Formats: sequence, C-alpha cells, structure tokens
Amino acid sequence: MAVWYTLADLLLARLDAETAHGLAIRALRSGLLPAQRQADPPSLAVDIWGRSLPNPIGLAAGFDKNAEVPDACLGLGFGLVEIGSVTPRPQAGNPRPRLFRLPEDRGVINRMGFPGEGLDAALARLRQRARTGFVGVNVGANKESTDRAADYVTGCVALAPYADYLVCNVSSPNTPGLRNLQGRTELAGLLKRVQDAIAGQKVPLVVKIAPDASDDDLDDIVAVCRDLKMDGIIIGNTTLSRPPSLRSGRKGEAGGLSGAPLAALSTEVLRKTAQRVERQFPLIGCGGVSSGADAYAKIRAGATLVQLYSALVYDGPPLVRRIKDELAALLKREGLSSLSQAIGADL
Ligand SMILES: Cc1cc2nc3c(=O)[nH]c(=O)nc-3n(C[C@H](O)[C@H](O)[C@H](O)COP(=O)(O)O)c2cc1C
Repeated sequence: MAVWYTLADLLLARLDAETAHGLAIRALRSGLLPAQRQADPPSLAVDIWGRSLPNPIGLAAGFDKNAEVPDACLGLGFGLVEIGSVTPRPQAGNPRPRLFRLPEDRGVINRMGFPGEGLDAALARLRQRARTGFVGVNVGANKESTDRAADYVTGCVALAPYADYLVCNVSSPNTPGLRNLQGRTELAGLLKRVQDAIAGQKVPLVVKIAPDASDDDLDDIVAVCRDLKMDGIIIGNTTLSRPPSLRSGRKGEAGGLSGAPLAALSTEVLRKTAQRVERQFPLIGCGGVSSGADAYAKIRAGATLVQLYSALVYDGPPLVRRIKDELAALLKREGLSSLSQAIGADL
C-alpha cells in the first residue's frame, strides 16, 4: 500500500493542483483507496453535542464541496468529515488557475470563490447516503446574491435533516464582502435568522471565522455567539496574511493561505477565542495541522475537534493514521487516559 501511495503522490505532485484534486475525488468515488479498518485508540474518543466520535481529527470543508465522497473520506480514518461550502445556486467560481501549492512552505493558496454544483446536487447525494459516521455540512452564499443571509437560511433549512452539524461559513476571503458578515450586527442578524429558521430541527449550528480576526473582532463574534447560545465556532478559515517566512515563488498569488504557514496564527486565534468563550460551547481548531503535535496544540488551546485539509495535499491519506497515532502517543506520554483531559489545558 505504501508503494501505491508513493506512486500516486509522485503523479499528483506533477499535476496542476486542481486537476490533482479532481483525480483524488474520482479515486475516492471509485473505491480505489482502501478504507482504514484499524480501530482508533480508545483515548482518542471524544464527546460532542451528545455524540461520541472515535477520534477528533476531521476533514475540513473545501475538499468535498459537492458531497460526492463523504463516506469514502470517513473511510480514510477521519472522525468527522465536513462537506461544502454549499451555495444555494450552482456557480463557476473564479477563473483557473485558482489553486496553488507552495511546496517549500508546505502551504496552499486558493482563490476558488465557492465553485460548486449548488444545493440541489448536494442534497440529492446526501439524501441517498446512510446516516453513518459524523458528517457536517458547511453552507455559503452565492457571489451574486443580493441577500446573503437569505442564502445561509436556504442552505441550512434544506440541509439540516442530513447534517450532523451545520456551519455558516462567513469567512471565505474569496467572495468579495463575505467577511463583512462577521461584523457584530450583521453576524447577529444572520445567525438569528438561521437559528429561527431551523428551530424545529435538533442540529448543532456553528460559525466558521477567519484567523485574521482582530481582538476586537473576536470580542464581537464571541459576544454574539454567547448571546445566541450558538453550538460552536470553527477557527478558522484561510488567511489573507503572508508570513515573512514564506519562500515559495507562488507566495504573491491572491487568495487565502492555508497549511503549515497558518498553524501558529490559527492556534493563537483559537486560544484567544477560547479565553472569551469560557467553555460555554465547544470549539473546532483548523489551520496548518499536519502532525499529532499540531493537533495536540490546538486541543490544549481549547479545541474539542480539529480539522485539516492542506496537509493532505502533501502527505496523502496515510497522514490521518499518523496524526492519530502521534496524538495517542502524546496523550500517553502526558499520562492522560482521555482526550477530554487535554482540552483547553493551556488556557
Ligand atoms: C482548496 C481549498 C478550498 C477550500 N474551500 C473551503 C470552503 O468551501 N469552505 C470553507 O469553509 N473552507 C474552505 N477552505 C478552508 C479549509 O476548510 C480550512 O479552513 C483551511 O484550509 C485551513 O486548514 P488547513 O491549513 O488544514 O488547510 C478551503 C481550503 C482550501 C485549501
């Protein structure tokens, strides 16, 4: 299997990044990638929103935008998989190329702009799958929409029956003006409308924010989420910042940066968020996770769950097993029998 992955990696690394992504989806759809059958170490089990997950490592939104392969992704060993962002209407997104590898930095820059098949296509696929595993649905707004909050309502209402949790993604940097929805008044209005619209459904609702949020922004975001008794916050999306340490020739491409260069920033913003949330609801840490140590840092900074995407571009599916093994070893070394004992330990 290792040889298979090495060959596949070599091939994928030579291709344009978006073509490689398309091939990865096709491979998953065809069942070409063997599922990971080894049970997770019991210490990695984690409880959230009344459910118990075998491990806290999730696939972040953006990989399976159209809900084509959630079960195959769960089969790679993820404890949870988030599909989307799903927009109400299909849209093409930005012109290609719009996805770039920064190999020297183990980073990625994307300016996809929510390309996708739209709500009906995602819905049709989700309706067909058996409700096993833990699959979140991430919802976005169409670029041309005149009432973006209405797009989140439309998406959440339609997808709630098929989601183990819903995410309002108000932090993509590639849809002009979207991040303005993180402002106090706009965010409160949007989340209240969504909450009211899905009030009858017992699905946790979380918001995904940018790692570029200032301390004042975080004060506002957390105040709104605490007021509305939201179920969680994901910290976070890609960053518009460019750390001076970047070496890759592609570092000047417009778009959101993810992967290793995002790790420290996103963990710091997670920590600041956790300090403000005071354990009123769980947090999901996302940004630059490529090892058990990265995941552990996010958990200690206050995350109950951790997500990743970019590291998969470089390390492929064996990454998931490695991170889980490293995380279990770290817990053991610290004398902890369960992950829950580590959540927020650094706060
Ligand atoms: C190609 C690409 C597409 C993405 N698309 C989405 C998206 O549609 N919705 C979303 O909420 N986040 C999206 N993201 C952000 C990721 O979910 C994640 O928040 C970010 O990449 C940081 O995690 P990472 O460093 O592990 O990649 C995307 C990221 C990448 C690299």
